[in-house]
Amino acid sequence: MIKIRNVSKFFNGNKVLKNINLEIENGEFVVLIGQSGSGKTTLLKLINKLIKPTSGEIFVGEEEISKRNSISLRREIGYVIQKEGLMPHMNIGENIELIPKLLKWKKTKMESRSKELLNLVGLDPMDYYERYPSELSGGQRQRVGIARALANNPDTILMDEPFSALDPITRENLQQEILSLQKELKKTIVFVTHDMDEALKIADKIAILKDGEIIQYDSPENILKNPINEFVENFVGKNRLWKNPDILQAKDIMRKDFPMVTVNGRLITALEIMDKNDMQFLVVVEKNRAENKEKAVGIIFKWDITLQAMENGATIESLMKKDFQSVFFDEKLTTIIKLIEDQTLKLVVVNDRNKKLLGVISANRLITMLARIVPHGRD
Ligand SMILES: Nc1ncnc2c1ncn2[C@@H]1O[C@H](COP(=O)(O)OP(=O)(O)OP(=O)(O)O)[C@@H](O)[C@H]1O
Ligand SMILES: [Mg+2]
Repeated sequence: MIKIRNVSKFFNGNKVLKNINLEIENGEFVVLIGQSGSGKTTLLKLINKLIKPTSGEIFVGEEEISKRNSISLRREIGYVIQKEGLMPHMNIGENIELIPKLLKWKKTKMESRSKELLNLVGLDPMDYYERYPSELSGGQRQRVGIARALANNPDTILMDEPFSALDPITRENLQQEILSLQKELKKTIVFVTHDMDEALKIADKIAILKDGEIIQYDSPENILKNPINEFVENFVGKNRLWKNPDILQAKDIMRKDFPMVTVNGRLITALEIMDKNDMQFLVVVEKNRAENKEKAVGIIFKWDITLQAMENGATIESLMKKDFQSVFFDEKLTTIIKLIEDQTLKLVVVNDRNKKLLGVISANRLITMLARIVPHGRD
């Protein structure tokens, strides 16, 4: 658990962090994001006592860190610094083994650990173990920086833009690695990035910083769906939600105030409702007054309500299609799109767990919503 309480940091009278409050649970993956100069690195450095707050308290575990020995605190916290910061006169192996060596690990244990970590970050130990930092590319050095931060298996890891110099594929691989590492070994990770897509992908919670203040601290889902103000909205980007369709669920896209007809209503009423709303079909519901709920029981299509059918005494119940598709309110948009596409559906019904009707998603509505966000003039 990391607790930051009313922390401010001034540099030469310059307020770089202003009254920061932040709580990070054990095993949580928290991402700090914000413009250059907003105070992200400063916040990380405060957590492992590389700098001291001007005011406020910081707890790592139970203890307030000003009371702790800096060196021993830092050994418990892995730190990937923004510029990978390898020792130029030490080879890669020695760089990774810096802390294990201070902890007096046996040479064989250190060596097998650093080789394991080199493999983890995608660098062949045979090739890289004995090289020097100057013989590596920026992205490779960054990966060594990550390996070094993991060397003695700390519970808490601070990572300052660890993937900034990596190509998208390596970056994606390492995101996955870090995520599964964190989930399996329950690491607490504070991770700085400029990349909102990266933040959304890996974070349990995102803290958005602006001019030394935390503007919103929330789950990726809430940041996307309920940005607290215009700054966050602009920072996230208007169409970002749609670029992360896995975050969108049925309840976010369904129509709630849609016309419907009761199963024991009259056919002519169904036709009138369709005409008035310019629709080709309607959801048919059964009302349960005792439980105050409506349950979808079918869909009736305009083209089935013929004069002949009416003359033959057809009812809504006899004409409606009962084999409609329904989903729970938390079904993912991607699954719904697939369902609609695979079965060429006109409409999907959205229910709660008790089969109470909550809304509908029509294929038309999906297309209109998607069309709105696809940039014009491009395909
Ligand atoms: N040692 C220092 N002395 C004086 N000012 C500093 C010091 N360290 C940081 N600052 C200032 O504090 C502010 C926040 O810096 P910080 O490095 O925390 O930003 P950041 O959010 O990490 O930015 P970036 O995304 O560019 O890495 C900046 O305006 C910076 O110039
Ligand atoms: Mg920084």
